[in-house]
Formats: sequence, C-alpha cells, structure tokens
Amino acid sequence: MSDLVEEWRVVRRGKGASRQFKSKKKSPSSAACLEEQLDVEKLIRRIKDTVSELSAEEVWKQWKDQLLLTTSSPDWRPSGNSETDGNHYKNAEGRTARQHVECVCYGLGTFSSCVSARYQLAMLLLLLDAGRIPLKDCSVYDPAFSSAERDVLRGLGLTVLTENEEGKRLATKPTLFYLMHCGKALYNNLLWKNWSPRCLPLVTIIGNCFSGIRERTIEREMRQDYNYISKAVDWCEERLLPCPTRLIDVFSDTAVITFPSDRLNKLPQSTWTESPEPQYHHCSDLEIILKQKSISDAPETEDR
Ligand SMILES: C[S@@+](CC[C@H](N)C(=O)[O-])C[C@H]1O[C@@H](n2cnc3c(N)ncnc32)[C@H](O)[C@@H]1O
Repeated sequence: MSDLVEEWRVVRRGKGASRQFKSKKKSPSSAACLEEQLDVEKLIRRIKDTVSELSAEEVWKQWKDQLLLTTSSPDWRPSGNSETDGNHYKNAEGRTARQHVECVCYGLGTFSSCVSARYQLAMLLLLLDAGRIPLKDCSVYDPAFSSAERDVLRGLGLTVLTENEEGKRLATKPTLFYLMHCGKALYNNLLWKNWSPRCLPLVTIIGNCFSGIRERTIEREMRQDYNYISKAVDWCEERLLPCPTRLIDVFSDTAVITFPSDRLNKLPQSTWTESPEPQYHHCSDLEIILKQKSISDAPETEDR
C-alpha cells in the first residue's frame, strides 16, 4: 500500500492530525471565517476518503502501471542513463538519484460540488504518490476554483497558480500534464508552447484522447483552430486508459499521450517551422477561459 493512503488512513483513525491542521491556522475572527475553515477541513477529509476508495479499485492499478511505463521511458531519463526505476536513476557515481519531475493540472473543475472533479483530484493525488512527485511540485489552476477550493488544494500541499496560463506552459524538465476533459484550446496551446523535438518529449499528457477529439470535430475546424492537435495526432503515442462503467463520467475517453523522440526525429524539419501562436478570436464556442487583458495590452484608440 502506498505511504500516502496509509498515512491518510492513520489520519482518519486518530483525530490528532486534523487537530494539528486546525492549530496551525490563526484563530477565526468571525463565525463566517470559522465556518469556512470547517468547510475546508471537511472537504479535505472527503477528498482523502475518495483517495482511499479509489486506491482499492482495479482501475487505479491499471492507471498506475501506465504512469510507471511513462516515467521509465528513455525521454524521461537524464541523458545517457539506461538504468531506471520509476523516476530514479543511477547517477555518475553509481548512486540512486531522483529525476526531477513536475506536474501541472489545468481544468480540474469545482471539486467541492462536482463528484467527477473530486474523483479526478483523488486520482491526481494517487498518481503523484505513485510517481513520487512531491505535492508542492504539482501546480493546479482552474479559473472556476472558489477561494475555499484554493485553500483545500493548498491544505493538501499542492501549488495553486494565480495566473491563467491558458495552457501555455513550457516544459523544461519531464512534466506530467493532467488535463481531464478540458477544452481543445488548452491542449492546442500546450502543444504550441512546446512545439519542438527538444520540448515535446518532456511532455506527458493525461487527458482527452487526441484521436477521439479528431473524430468528434469537423476537419476544417481541426485544421484551422486546433492545428497543433491536428498534426500531433498522427505521430503522438496514445495509450487509452481503462474506465469502469461506474466512473464513465469521470474517466471516459482518457489517454496517456506522449511524444517519443525517436518518432519526432523522423519528421521533416518543416514540421517545426512556421508555428504561429494560436488565436481564437473568431471561435464563438471556445471551451476555455482566456486571461484578462491588462489595460496596457489593449490596442490604442484614437481620440476623436
Ligand atoms: C469541461 S470542464 C471539466 C471539469 C472536470 N475536469 C470534469 O471532468 O468534470 C473544463 C474545465 O476547464 C476549466 N478551464 C477553462 N479555462 C481554463 C484555463 N484557461 N485554464 C485552466 N482551466 C480552465 C473550466 O473552468 C472547467 O472547470
């Protein structure tokens, strides 16, 4: 059993840990503040219960195996290293060292009210534990999060982003992107930002299967608006993740998507040239929230 789940079981058995959490907080100055704090603690307990429940499911074991396959791939090893175990490898002195892996989660949804989002959060926590990715190295962002939800995520140890990156995060080290049932533009932006044979192999996405997106989207729209998904779907590697019927709303149509160097190196050089930043001004049904433009970004208008 994972340390995480066992630790959380201990927390549930004894009340000490939750008292500790309370005592770290400043004493509430009003009833509303106390109520909010209790809600946060209740929600954290509920998420931990969901983690325990999910960890006993067969689906979790299958997802974990797929994740471990990824973290042991050559693209996630420091160059020249052949010996690996998860994200550990033998360094130059023959000692076992840890490869630094990051995680970014966009579009989790409002997990305080949405059961699917809560299961997805529980799955994320299990994946971080299995991949030995420290909780603080996982950044989460959804413009829909309430302030209580942000408190919960911080309480769990995750890093909550304050800026809307629109999915445009450059991978400078192996990075797991967890984008469950997100808008096409988020995937497209992520691909654009990492559009090179150097960066894409560092990207692993757990999210909507690209071939499923292609099937559901008209071809012209794919080529015009989601050009990067449209190109990558032909040469990325997709491994569909299992989804039990009971959890169909939570984990359907989800795959581990990787971009193996050996495939990218065979593509013509022209693949990487001419890669303009995606623009979605004309998309009436854009499924993502764009960042607010600051006043200084707004085009200047002439005084009449
Ligand atoms: C279809 S919902 C999926 C929610 C949840 N993962 C689920 O499966 O029920 C898409 C989510 O993407 C979020 N989203 C929209 N724009 C975003 C952005 N720029 N960055 C991160 N998340 C975004 C929305 O707020 C929403 O929660």
